[in-house]
Amino acid sequence: MENRFKNQVPNVLEARNLGKKYQMGELIVEALSGIDFEVASGEFVAIMGPSGSGKSTLLHLLGGLDQPTEGEVTLAGQRLTHLGDKQITLARRRKIGFVFQFFNLLPTMTAEENIALPLVIDGKDKRRYQPRIDALLALVGLTDRRRHKPDQLSAGEQQRVALARALVTEPAVILADEPTGNLDTKNSAAIMELLRRSCNELNQTMIVVTHDALAATYADRVIFLKDGEIRNQIDFQKPQLMPERLSMVIKAIEIKEASD
Ligand SMILES: Nc1ncnc2c1ncn2[C@@H]1O[C@H](COP(=O)(O)OP(=O)(O)OP(=O)(O)O)[C@@H](O)[C@H]1O
Ligand SMILES: [Mg+2]
Repeated sequence: MENRFKNQVPNVLEARNLGKKYQMGELIVEALSGIDFEVASGEFVAIMGPSGSGKSTLLHLLGGLDQPTEGEVTLAGQRLTHLGDKQITLARRRKIGFVFQFFNLLPTMTAEENIALPLVIDGKDKRRYQPRIDALLALVGLTDRRRHKPDQLSAGEQQRVALARALVTEPAVILADEPTGNLDTKNSAAIMELLRRSCNELNQTMIVVTHDALAATYADRVIFLKDGEIRNQIDFQKPQLMPERLSMVIKAIEIKEASD
């Protein structure tokens, strides 16, 4: 698919003719088919679509959490498809940061320990990375909450810890599945702003699944899925302001619904 980042910076992620079928006894569920797109370095892509349209399935394939039944995914020059278990685990650990709807923090660890966890799991010496951890705590505004455990943090704060944890390995891409799905309007905006800032200030590539039209306006591009296929795309222009972006997203959703 065309996008304005094309030819300016290399692609971080490429999906080629990606498909996923689930066998349910006699029945074959085609969750995704013929998905073709690329994401450039530093690009922020939102994925929207009705429930069951294949958004989470797509994110799982892009992140090597599941294997496609057709096509392939290339991440930072490495084909994820057909890698062995060990290699795929390493690729996930070092090249991908995940953010989930329900934060998935370890309850016995402090905010700081949760953020450092991906480094520790990768056998890195945490002390060497202290400046990076401090910078991320500052970025997400939690320097004074670093010793709090998840149940001593608000929902918005927990998601900010989860975002810092995803950023700590400087992954090739962050994949977020409904990161604002469990947050109120104010906390949702704070998370989307942080994702935008990570993109602008750290050149962090982002792919974010969202149901929320307002959240999608923070992206550079919105891809619309329906019945497992890419049906539409919006490429925002830099100077476009939120209200104009929002009406473009809402219009795209309405046109899609009207054509059903
Ligand atoms: N493990 C599975 N086995 C069988 N079918 C599955 C499996 N996982 C997903 N599906 C089916 O694939 C389709 C896409 O599911 P997916 O979870 O990707 O949708 P989604 O767009 O993320 O929906 P939501 O917005 O509700 O999260 C659905 O029809 C779903 O029922
Ligand atoms: Mg989903």
